[in-house]
Amino acid sequence: MFDARYSIRTHVAGALRAADAGTTVTLAGWVHRRRDHGGLIFVDLRDRSGLVQCVFDPEDSKAAFALAESMRPEWVVKLTGDVRRRPAGTENPALATGEVEVLVTEAEVLNRAETPPFEVESAVATDETLRLKYRYIDMRRPEVLDALVLRDRITQRFRKSLERRGFIEVETPMLGRSTPEGARDFIVPSRLNPGEFYALPQSPQLYKQLLMVGGIERYYQIARCFRDEDLRADRQPEFTQVDIEMSFITQEDLLVMMEEVMHEVLREANVDLPLPLPRLTYAEAMDRFGSDRPDLRFGMELVDLSDVFAGTSFKVFASALASDGVVKAIAAKGAGDWSRGRIDALAPVAAEVGAKGLAWIAFTSEGEVRSPIAKFLSEEEMAALTERLGVEPGDLVLFAADERMVANEVLGTLRTHLAGELGLAADGFACLWVVDFPLFKWDTEEDKWSANHHPFTRPFDEHVELVESDPASVLSYSYDLVINGIEVGGGTLRIHDAGLQQRVLKVLGIAEGEAREQFGFLLDALTYGAPPHGGIALGLDRLVMLLAHKHSIRDVIAFPKTSSGACPLTGAPGRVSARQLREVHLRLE
Ligand code: AMO
Ligand code: AMP
Repeated sequence: MFDARYSIRTHVAGALRAADAGTTVTLAGWVHRRRDHGGLIFVDLRDRSGLVQCVFDPEDSKAAFALAESMRPEWVVKLTGDVRRRPAGTENPALATGEVEVLVTEAEVLNRAETPPFEVESAVATDETLRLKYRYIDMRRPEVLDALVLRDRITQRFRKSLERRGFIEVETPMLGRSTPEGARDFIVPSRLNPGEFYALPQSPQLYKQLLMVGGIERYYQIARCFRDEDLRADRQPEFTQVDIEMSFITQEDLLVMMEEVMHEVLREANVDLPLPLPRLTYAEAMDRFGSDRPDLRFGMELVDLSDVFAGTSFKVFASALASDGVVKAIAAKGAGDWSRGRIDALAPVAAEVGAKGLAWIAFTSEGEVRSPIAKFLSEEEMAALTERLGVEPGDLVLFAADERMVANEVLGTLRTHLAGELGLAADGFACLWVVDFPLFKWDTEEDKWSANHHPFTRPFDEHVELVESDPASVLSYSYDLVINGIEVGGGTLRIHDAGLQQRVLKVLGIAEGEAREQFGFLLDALTYGAPPHGGIALGLDRLVMLLAHKHSIRDVIAFPKTSSGACPLTGAPGRVSARQLREVHLRLE
């Protein structure tokens, strides 16, 4: 609730309604707009709650009228006057306060303002860097304000929902040791320990596991995390997680608890989340959608046509199949009438993720078939593929013939790209779990196994014996929460057995000495009565971005960084003095 208590005003501007007519009110806020109408001056007074029209009439107060003549946008003023219904025909239904206006009898200028670099008007398109440089002005716009208000409500709801389920919020250090989340650390030199550095947490992962060993049992934290990565629309160098960890649970317990909490949280944004959430295994998500974070707001599923082309004379498909690959395809509804140029423009999108080419067949709505490859296909092959894909006039069929992983990724990328172009993913919330990720993934650059999530993830009990002999086939207790094609959260059950932890680290090629050096404290803790435990972390920025219908998490962060990691407002990062460097025992090259 935002009201006028504890302030120099009696009411807030946005709350005035017809029922307040006849009341004398004192308001304070910003001059949103001023209009001179001959003998009258109209000032829209804005505060956090909204705005109301204030009228200055020299008949009522000469002094107030004179002051109003000098008022400029964004001046800070305090106005006292009488609320009255607007004369018939002058109401503004677009405004919550549109039925009334305030006839000003007393006015005071609390502060003047320079002409702002851009108008505080919701629809004004302004360069983002300029908006961020003057974020405190940008923030006066309802769009930014609403996003921050929504973010607060979501955060409070998480707190309430978790508290009600026995979770306690525990803060963990910002100055810590490097955590193995897979990104680069931000490091902080230690003045008291020459040559040594803290790392800012990539997540509270190790601390929350220690809290479980410590018997906290149900922990959460609205936790700031730091990762020195390349930035994108849904990535910032510092971001916020709703970080959760529980002891004595199965994976099912965690998923059910989290679904209930998400249901309550989304209701805060007027989204009704149907439970239980659908689940896809990682394998199924890759096979059907070519992505481990599929957008389920639309179909366009990947279809395996390898058997259809088993005996094909089309060389491209035959050679992929001969080297143990697959031929898969998607059918994009509504793209069958696209021009040759528009279809060809898809090839680079596919090539970006490793496609060697992009075979296609366009079925126009007039019933024609256009394609550079149809002439190589037999009638039976054409019949089978149209049947399998459920092709109708107006569809564009795109093929990937490659290793299974590559084909999935190519078509998965095309699927999201096409959905964007065809406007298939315009609204709605498609929320699901992707579960059962492989424990390991092969790192082709380093030529070794790496952890799919992180090294503390627990393998399926029935796969433990395969950890050394067949790492590729080992699945893990793991789950990602996906909404509209975005990974909103992820977590796992953890290894709580020191011996198993050692075995997994060994497969990862993390030598014992290295492991001791990096997180020996956790390995020790596992030997002192660690309960079975697991958890999850939700990306709060991403969730709020989705609920606020924004395209960048910058829009839901009060003071975000640009894509180069800079803050246009404060100028961070900046230089430090020679003395500061000396104190932390550093010298610049
Ligand atoms: P993970 O690394 O998957 O898991 O992070 C959890 C969630 O945090 C969000 N996220 C980000 N949001 C904005 N900017 C970023 N740079 C960024 N990086 C991640 C995503 C992601 O799903 N400790 C584990 C969780 C666990 O196992 O409990 C972890 O941090 O929404
Ligand atoms: P080419 O024989 O290389 O001229 O290819 C014939 C057609 O098949 C062209 O339309 C290519 O874009 C397409 N093509 C080539 N390689 C692949 C592949 N791996 N997957 C799908 N289509 C391909």
